[in-house]
Amino acid sequence: MKVAVVGLGYVGTVTAACLAANGHDVWGVDVDVVKVDDIRAGRSPVAEPGLDALVADGVARGSLHATTSCEAAVERADVSLVCVGTPSAARGAADLSYIRRAVEDIAAVLRTCAPPASGHHSVVIRSTVPPGTVEQVVTPLVADLPVACGAAMCPEFLREGSGIADFYQPPLIVVGTAADRVGSALTELFGFLEQPVQVVDVRVAEALKYACNAFHATKVSFVNELARLFRLLGVDSREVMSLFCQDTVLNISPSYLRPGFAFGGSCLPKDLRSLLHLARMSGADLPLLAGTLATNELVINEVVDRVVACGARTVALLGLSFKMNTDDLRESPNVELAERLIGKGFEVRIYDQVVNPSRLIGANRRYVESKLPHLGRLLTQHPDEALRGAEVAVVSATDEAVLGALAASAPAHVIDLSGRLGQPVESLPGYEGLGW
Ligand SMILES: NC(=O)c1ccc[n+]([C@@H]2O[C@H](COP(=O)([O-])OP(=O)(O)OC[C@H]3O[C@@H](n4cnc5c(N)ncnc54)[C@H](O)[C@@H]3O)[C@@H](O)[C@H]2O)c1
Repeated sequence: MKVAVVGLGYVGTVTAACLAANGHDVWGVDVDVVKVDDIRAGRSPVAEPGLDALVADGVARGSLHATTSCEAAVERADVSLVCVGTPSAARGAADLSYIRRAVEDIAAVLRTCAPPASGHHSVVIRSTVPPGTVEQVVTPLVADLPVACGAAMCPEFLREGSGIADFYQPPLIVVGTAADRVGSALTELFGFLEQPVQVVDVRVAEALKYACNAFHATKVSFVNELARLFRLLGVDSREVMSLFCQDTVLNISPSYLRPGFAFGGSCLPKDLRSLLHLARMSGADLPLLAGTLATNELVINEVVDRVVACGARTVALLGLSFKMNTDDLRESPNVELAERLIGKGFEVRIYDQVVNPSRLIGANRRYVESKLPHLGRLLTQHPDEALRGAEVAVVSATDEAVLGALAASAPAHVIDLSGRLGQPVESLPGYEGLGW
């Protein structure tokens, strides 16, 4: 394929050199003449292990070209990969002016110059851009061109310092596009990587890169916060984290990474509070971990606000314990939710397949008595009973009885807290997911 790589910084140069090494005819274009001259001279314009040799090889074989002329790069190209910067603008916004300018330049070439032999051109954003950018900024600029043209977001996951290795072994190849031809063009372009190309919704692809970077930043701050406290407590945090990382069931795993309701139960809130207390006593600040409690509070607030916004009076709460198949109600966010809704004057009816007030004992019983003293009166034997007359169902349970009752007699609003209710419930007219 003929590929134009627009922007020859870290991402663009690695991308251009690697694609050129794997059989594509690559034309890198940059407004910076120094970078273009570097590549023409067989040097990488950015310091990256192994990149000089790859650039020199591509240039020598005639598969890698560099130019300041967007026309030379984009004319007859099948794909444009936009790798320009998206730096921070005022108040942290992503500055999209380089993206806009680069796509305008590409569109101007496609408007006047010879089309590719395939008759189709894909404009693909590899820069990190906020969800909605392709739809709102890129697609309008490439509409109504004389050549068929589609747009996509294909997030780049390489890290500086291991850029080439990361390019060849990306954790994922994700293409966000609504255009089938763009999906197939990129499947062909990256065919040599032997990784499946996952075609998804454009906004999902745009958001994915932010999710990854936010997670990486959170991981670094998480471990540094713990280290700050553990050192003061005489604990070697390197040893703790080395063991921590050996747990690939709960720690380094997809566990706890599904969007859903607030955390709760008898351990997480209690132990976080204890850790934060230790930090206060030791003079260490742990704003990230303190923030998790604040975030958890916001999740519960949001559900209360959504119920209020429904204009309902009667609410069916399907699922009460903090997790399915347990009757442990200690610090269950559902109990907190029920308490707040009752406090706001809602009539709340609760169904939980496991919770039986007459069998609650010890700390569990004391907790419920302090939070929901009339639980026995609020609980129903069957989800149908809880749903009767309710205008809103707030659902965290996913047992068959609940799913069947919702499908048979759904109220006007169903607020899903688990994301596991399945298609029949998700297609109900009043369905809304908590975070999806
Ligand atoms: N650096 C990384 O490790 C990395 C990894 C993944 C994603 N990203 C994202 O990729 C994007 C690019 O990052 P980078 O570090 O390669 O940026 P960079 O600043 O190193 O390079 C951007 C290049 O684009 C050029 N440019 C700007 N406008 C242009 C135009 N209209 N036409 C042609 N060239 C133009 C600039 O001259 C510059 O050489 C950013 O959105 C970044 O967030 C970066």
